[in-house]
Amino acid sequence: MFLRSFSRSLMELKLIAAVAFLLLSATVAADYVRPQPRKTLHFPLSHNPSSHPQQVHISLAGDKHMRVTWVTGDKSSPSSVEYGTSPGRYSSVAQGESTSYSYIFYSSGKIHHTVIGPLEHSTVYFYRCGGQGPEFQLKTPPAQFPVTFAVAGDLGQTGWTKTTLDHIDQCNYDVHLLPGDLSYADYMQHRWDTFGELVQPLASARPWMVTEGNHEKEVIPFLKDGFESYNARWKMPFEESGSSSNLYYSFEVAGIHVIMLGSYTDYDEQSNQYRWLENDLSKVDRKKTPWLVVLFHVPWYNSNKAHQAEGDDMMAAMEPLLYAASVDLVLAGHVHAYERSKRINNGRFDPCGAVHITIGDGGNNEGLAHWYIDPQPEWSVFREASFGHGELKIVNSTHAFWSWHRNDDDEPIRSDQVWISSLVSSGCVAEKRHEQRKMLLAP
Ligand SMILES: [Fe+2]
Repeated sequence: MFLRSFSRSLMELKLIAAVAFLLLSATVAADYVRPQPRKTLHFPLSHNPSSHPQQVHISLAGDKHMRVTWVTGDKSSPSSVEYGTSPGRYSSVAQGESTSYSYIFYSSGKIHHTVIGPLEHSTVYFYRCGGQGPEFQLKTPPAQFPVTFAVAGDLGQTGWTKTTLDHIDQCNYDVHLLPGDLSYADYMQHRWDTFGELVQPLASARPWMVTEGNHEKEVIPFLKDGFESYNARWKMPFEESGSSSNLYYSFEVAGIHVIMLGSYTDYDEQSNQYRWLENDLSKVDRKKTPWLVVLFHVPWYNSNKAHQAEGDDMMAAMEPLLYAASVDLVLAGHVHAYERSKRINNGRFDPCGAVHITIGDGGNNEGLAHWYIDPQPEWSVFREASFGHGELKIVNSTHAFWSWHRNDDDEPIRSDQVWISSLVSSGCVAEKRHEQRKMLLAP
């Protein structure tokens, strides 16, 4: 009797344990634990001769022109670029400029900036820097739609950065957009050099258009103002776009006007940046460039607990300008996670507002921003704390396809996607012009 009751209790216990185990397994499976941040990569700088180019990257520099940037240890190395459309046969040569900087005990190499062009659209060019070292090749963006942008912010230089870059390399993109926080050198100047080496395979082949984040601001009170390394190494087409600062500028690709703003320079109504933005927006011709895209580092619409409300002041100053200009899409970084909004303005859904996307999830050593405000705000469509990259294919003057590719277990998984209609095609641009005209005519 006792034995029978004991064995029944034992069976019940086993049953309870089995059920508990199944429940626990289900919970664990549903609540997938994402891998930890990966360590910063450490690799020696190349041991090529000091006259050979290192850290080669290219950027758009006005209509039909590209800026080639590279570093040499040899200070007498010339800032010339030979280029042409056949390998090893250079039909043109351009002379550029160079700079260098010192930072406490660090002295940079010679940083060369050379503008080449005019270049044909959608064409592969072969080029050599300073008459030395290997040949590189680049492809110029198309003159017409479609145009594809790869987008990844807050890159750093970790194992996750490497796989994100590998995934971007697999996509057939024309221009890379980076909304701030490049190297995470964080005052260790040689880390700017290793970052340059890490991105060279991609950045020497397609233009990389970047704007600054907080990690570019390496201030030492009374000694260094900040952005010295960034400005010296990542010169963008600010002069070509009428800006007086490398921290904000604009450029055009086919039918898209792209504005890169600075979250870490003055943006109030009296600031140079604000005045430049007003002027730049006033020159945008939506017949020529129906799409208007803006990038900056600190997101204005962010439901992650990280960096909550940090962009509020800039938003208060500049959102009315962007709204009046019918900006289609805003891409930001800073928060190490992904989030996409509905069309929004002044905190509310607005069919004539911009879609805001936070894509600060390139793969840096600080890890992911896991915690979100609950409930999810009404304007927030999709949010996830994973590393990854975005692809923006602007198909024609009316439609673009956005996709976010989660860098999950080293495989690029397309996790969010949406078709976006341009504000030109939805009548918002004409409507706002009409409202502005009415306001101007009002007594
Ligand atoms: Fe940041």
